[in-house]
Amino acid sequence: MLLIALALLQTTPVAVAAAEEPIAPYAQSNANAGAKPFESDGMWRAFHGREGVDRIVDGLVERSLVDPRISDTFKGHDMVRLRRVLKEQFCHLLGGGCAYSGRTMKDSHKDMGLQTADMGALVENLQAEMNEEGVPFFAQNRLLAKLAPMKRDVVER
Ligand code: HEM
Repeated sequence: MLLIALALLQTTPVAVAAAEEPIAPYAQSNANAGAKPFESDGMWRAFHGREGVDRIVDGLVERSLVDPRISDTFKGHDMVRLRRVLKEQFCHLLGGGCAYSGRTMKDSHKDMGLQTADMGALVENLQAEMNEEGVPFFAQNRLLAKLAPMKRDVVER
C-alpha cells in the first residue's frame, strides 16, 4: 500500500509556480545586460538595494500585465523567468553587484514586433513603480538614460 502511494506521489504532476520553462542554450555574460553598471553604490542605495529593486520589478511586471496597451505582448511568455532576469539586470546596472544571466536585449525581444509606443508604455510603468518606491527623481532619470539606448535592440523598425 505504502509503495503504491509512493509511486502515485512520484507520478502525480504538482503545480510548481516558481519553475521556469526551459529555453534554448545561449552564452551568458554581463555584456548581455546591454549597458555598463554605475560604478559607485549611490544608485543602488537610491533604489533601496535588493528589496527596493525586487519591489520595483514585481510592480513593473504586474502593472504591465494589466496594462491594455501592452498586456497582450506578455501572454504566453515565462513571467517567472522574466521577473528573475529583470531583477538581475537592474541589480547589475544599478551597481548592486549581481551577475546578469539573461539573454541580450536583441535576442530577448526578437520577432515580438515591439514599437516605440510599447517602449513608452513600459517606461511609464517603470516610472510609476519608481515613484511608488520613493526613488529620487535624479536617480530615476539616470536609470532611464541607461535604458534608453536599448530601444534600438528592443523596438523593430
Ligand atoms: C529598455 C527596455 C527593456 C528592457 C531593459 C527589457 C528587459 C528584458 C529582459 C532582461 C528580458 C529577459 C531576457 C531573458 O529571458 O533572457 C526581457 C524579456 C521580455 N521583454 Fe523586455 N525589456 C525592455 C523592453 C520591453 C518592452 C517595451 C516590452 C513590451 C511592451 C517587453 C516585453 C518583454 C517580454 C514579453 C519578454 C519575454 C521574452 C521571452 O519570454 O522570450 N520588453 N526583457
